[in-house]
Amino acid sequence: MTTWPDHLDRVVLDQIDSTNREAERRAKAGINRPVWLAARHQTAGRGRQGRAWESPGGNLYATYLEPTELPPSQAALVGFVAALAVADALIALAPNTDVQTKWPNDVLLNGAKASGILLERFSGKQNALAIGIGINLAEHPPQHVTRWRATSLRAETGSAPEFDMALSELASAFERWRQVFHSAGFSVIRTAWLARAARLGAEIEVRLEKEVITGRFDDLDAEGGLVLDVGARQRRVAAGDVFFPGDS
Ligand code: BTN
Repeated sequence: MTTWPDHLDRVVLDQIDSTNREAERRAKAGINRPVWLAARHQTAGRGRQGRAWESPGGNLYATYLEPTELPPSQAALVGFVAALAVADALIALAPNTDVQTKWPNDVLLNGAKASGILLERFSGKQNALAIGIGINLAEHPPQHVTRWRATSLRAETGSAPEFDMALSELASAFERWRQVFHSAGFSVIRTAWLARAARLGAEIEVRLEKEVITGRFDDLDAEGGLVLDVGARQRRVAAGDVFFPGDS
């Protein structure tokens, strides 16, 4: 069983508004070393694109907050690092499941969304990067309230892993991939992410603010963009929501 990486600071709370919001408060007050902020329940969980993240008890809510020198374009790539860490944690917690990545930062368990990642960058005396990660250990929202089919480890395996064990698996895996990113660069992360990518080479739908694009999912580029084959040409997408057949 993986134990907590000794050198890493962590704060575990029963309840908080949002671990990313707590990260923001700490970043504004000033930080000089990384810390994991974890909670068993959130009252105001934040999701991507200004959405809420339902955060009942039984799941894992955690944010890795670190001082950063990375410019925003590089910081955004850490989302893929986090997705690989979540994928490894899920494989460790539920070895007989199918774990896949989905652009930009989702991780699917047996084809359904089991986690979410929200990156936020805070500027201040010292710039900081918050990597917020939610993993559905025991609970998941029903299909009618989500745009994507969701699941939890309990729904897929019959039992929910313990919070502490899940947090240790996540933090250890994130530390491994974070070191790969900083020593070898994004190309290794990109290759590992593509090796796990759901529907690579298949048709997907990408919803942008004012447009819906349908095309063949061809690649992840060196800047983290999604590359689609849309017939006669390729199109690169920098931000959007990806939908697979069966999603609403
Ligand atoms: C998504 O919309 O898919 C991203 C969801 C991110 C949720 C996590 S839970 C821990 C951290 N705290 C938050 O308020 N949000 C992130």
